[in-house]
Amino acid sequence: MRTILGIETSCDETSVAVVDEGRTVRANLIATQFDLHAKFGGVVPEIASRAHLEVLDPLIEEALHVAGASADDIDGIAVTSQPGLIGALLIGVTAAKALAWAWNKPLIGVNHIHAHATSAAMAVDVAPWPAVALVVSGGHTSLYHVRDFDSITPLGATVDDAAGEAFDKVASILKLGYPGGPVVDRLAATGNPLATRFPRTMFDANSLDFSFSGLKTAVLYHVHGAGRTTGGLERLNEQSIADICASFSAAVVDVLVEKTLRAVQREGVRTVVVGGGVAANSMLRIRLAGRCARDSVALHVTPPVYCTDNAAMIAALGYHLLQRGHSNDWTLSAVATTSQS
Ligand code: KG4
Ligand code: ZN
Repeated sequence: MRTILGIETSCDETSVAVVDEGRTVRANLIATQFDLHAKFGGVVPEIASRAHLEVLDPLIEEALHVAGASADDIDGIAVTSQPGLIGALLIGVTAAKALAWAWNKPLIGVNHIHAHATSAAMAVDVAPWPAVALVVSGGHTSLYHVRDFDSITPLGATVDDAAGEAFDKVASILKLGYPGGPVVDRLAATGNPLATRFPRTMFDANSLDFSFSGLKTAVLYHVHGAGRTTGGLERLNEQSIADICASFSAAVVDVLVEKTLRAVQREGVRTVVVGGGVAANSMLRIRLAGRCARDSVALHVTPPVYCTDNAAMIAALGYHLLQRGHSNDWTLSAVATTSQS
């Protein structure tokens, strides 16, 4: 049996997990920094690093306790080494190196987006590769061809806003609070997705890239009037807000579904996997399931608990990388960006 301790500190959640064989999650603890950043309206990098530093050691101890494991039971330390906030990543990477050194265990650097792309595999008996992976989160919207856990090729990515970012910005335009995805999702259920035809940016017929910033602006002008950025919200009643949420969600989902199936066609695979926070979106789950069923494509959506940032997916991918002979030496460093993610 291979038991991996996973550490995730790339943004504003500190998470530590203990996972057996990339599938059996014995502990997956998440300490969110939400309250620390809420009053600033976004994540403040220095505050994030400081908070990771304060909670990481006790969280590691607690995760081992919850898992009923000791250092002797751990076969490797997996840590998110890229991409993310550099100071935040450094806290996790430094802690992982210290543990790997002290306990004499292999160290495995994990790409956070690759972990989202492969997280659906945690819930299936047989690894679903080859597959097209759609990663939709607050920071990323990307398509990948996953041939194996260590063979992940980028196919396309957003050129501006991520899908989750668009959900958050539309929620902010409608003054629905942060993070906006879940509340827009809930209101969309009672709205009419055909009420307003918001733009769908498809680029040319072969493109697998995304753009959501024009859509966000279209919602802004729809709410306030052409060229205006304030003053319109008061005129909207509950139903028209629900209609905007539904029509906006439909525009995002149409593009995500269309491009994902376009990638399936182009790459000649028969399986789709989906991960990241926006994978929890109900309209996306329903429409993608319908389209995949129609086209006889297998679909595996990551269970909601592993959609948002968590260390279980880092430990899981770390396990598969270690199985395939990948580990890092002490030169492993934190990297803020990946060229294509
Ligand atoms: O993966 P995640 O936890 O963080 C990043 O790595 O970015 O994703 C968070 C994003 C937020 O933008 C949030 O609004 C969005 O996922 N989100 C949703 C839903 N639940 C979370 N978006 C749409 N519908 C949802 N149900
Ligand atoms: Zn993430």
